[in-house]
Amino acid sequence: MLKNFPLHPELASTFAWQVDALYFLLVALSLFFTVAITIAIVFFIIKYRRRSDDERPKPIHGSIPLELAWSIVPLIMSLGVFALGAELYFRMYTPPENAIDVYAIGKQWMWKIQHPEGKREINELHVPVNQAVNMTMTSEDVIHAFSIPAFRTKRDVVPGRYTSMWFEATKVGEYHLFCAEYCGTEHSKMIGTVYVMEPDAYQGWLSGGVSGETMVEAGQRQFKQLGCETCHKSQNGRGPSLIGVFGKPVQLTSGEVVVADEAYMRESVLTPQSKVVYGYKPIMPTFQGQISEETLLQIITYIQSLSEEEE
Ligand code: CUA
Repeated sequence: MLKNFPLHPELASTFAWQVDALYFLLVALSLFFTVAITIAIVFFIIKYRRRSDDERPKPIHGSIPLELAWSIVPLIMSLGVFALGAELYFRMYTPPENAIDVYAIGKQWMWKIQHPEGKREINELHVPVNQAVNMTMTSEDVIHAFSIPAFRTKRDVVPGRYTSMWFEATKVGEYHLFCAEYCGTEHSKMIGTVYVMEPDAYQGWLSGGVSGETMVEAGQRQFKQLGCETCHKSQNGRGPSLIGVFGKPVQLTSGEVVVADEAYMRESVLTPQSKVVYGYKPIMPTFQGQISEETLLQIITYIQSLSEEEE
């Protein structure tokens, strides 16, 4: 019924109803208190109006039960709202184990999407229904925000770092994709369509018209072309071997221990001197400005694959 009402887009993801429930709860609570307080104000204005010029009100010296009631009741209500919000927050920020990966890059003014299988698209996102999808996103220029109202999900896309968000679509269909952060003249044109497909149709779409190179293969090719392999392949290279490193803790020269995640990999490629692995010299050249965000993501998926093979 409310489908075409612009303030209430369709509910098409697993946590969409939860976001709405919380939203309507907040609206209901606010409405209730606005109305109740307004009525009380009007009522007391009339009831305690000054009836004659020399009338003086009787002073009131407080009431413990009343004080307790209006302190404890709102406390319980706000803690309740907090608990519901926190639960949803953790759910939205913890992608399930079985989520498939999709990579998005924002730039003025378009969305570039890469699927691990090699398929790429612009201002379109194809995903299977009833399958968790984890998006890893970055920007080439300014801050954008990836927003799919029907999924009730939105996350900033920030230059120089990876942000992620996940969702699980529950209904086959086409949905709006927006940039939800003002990013320049054509911000309003930075829009697209999300296609939620049946798993078979999605597989068919994935295999259609692909160059034949997956993201991992593309990353492997770049890894060779850029010469990363000369130092990072063997166990006794000038740089640390990257086999089995992804997701593991790494000891640095500074004594610090960091986890080798996407952000660490990205930093190590662009500004290699900032975190040098213990036992190695800071001799790696920077690749800042030499490789695109797409290539960087491909290389990271390749390094990631070096850890998966080992298990
Ligand atoms: Cu990108 Cu607004």
